[in-house]
Amino acid sequence: MSHADDTAGTRRDFLYYATAGAGAVATGAAVWPLVNQMNPSADVQALASIFVDVSGVETGTQLTVKYLGKPVFIRRRTEAEIAEARATALTDLPDRGARNPNKAAADASDVNRTMDEAGEWLVMIGVCTHLGCVPIGDGAGEFGGWFCPCHGSHYDSAGRIRKGPAPENLHIPVAEFVDDSTIKLG
Ligand code: FES
Repeated sequence: MSHADDTAGTRRDFLYYATAGAGAVATGAAVWPLVNQMNPSADVQALASIFVDVSGVETGTQLTVKYLGKPVFIRRRTEAEIAEARATALTDLPDRGARNPNKAAADASDVNRTMDEAGEWLVMIGVCTHLGCVPIGDGAGEFGGWFCPCHGSHYDSAGRIRKGPAPENLHIPVAEFVDDSTIKLG
């Protein structure tokens, strides 16, 4: 089935089904055959993917959505955030891997972390790579990005770990823009 002509209403339906699907996944594999049996293919697809309308996300703000039981941060970065992240040398980074499945084996340069060439859109799984807390955003921490207060991990404006016990940069989910204002996760 093609989704090329999806309307906004259809996208809301996807989001609703995806939320329900995430719950079903969390409760265990036994639920899967039931879901599979009861629903048509669109719902099955929605278990793996959700579509997020980002048209209302202003520059300098972050939208958080739940995907497969985890928060996903969708940040529309400011010029200053982009410039700061791009000016950072790889040698200053404790973790030099992009942690981006959309760009396999890439280094942690800012351009390898973002959705778009201009670096405006940063999408990350909002789970600290230390022990799994959800970091605070909106320029928090010593590096103007995210801060995880439980043990003091500081991430920069590209979500890269800069200081504290977290061993890895915030992970990036499989994601792509399917049109100018819609991001598909999964
Ligand atoms: S879980 Fe984030 S610093 Fe410990």
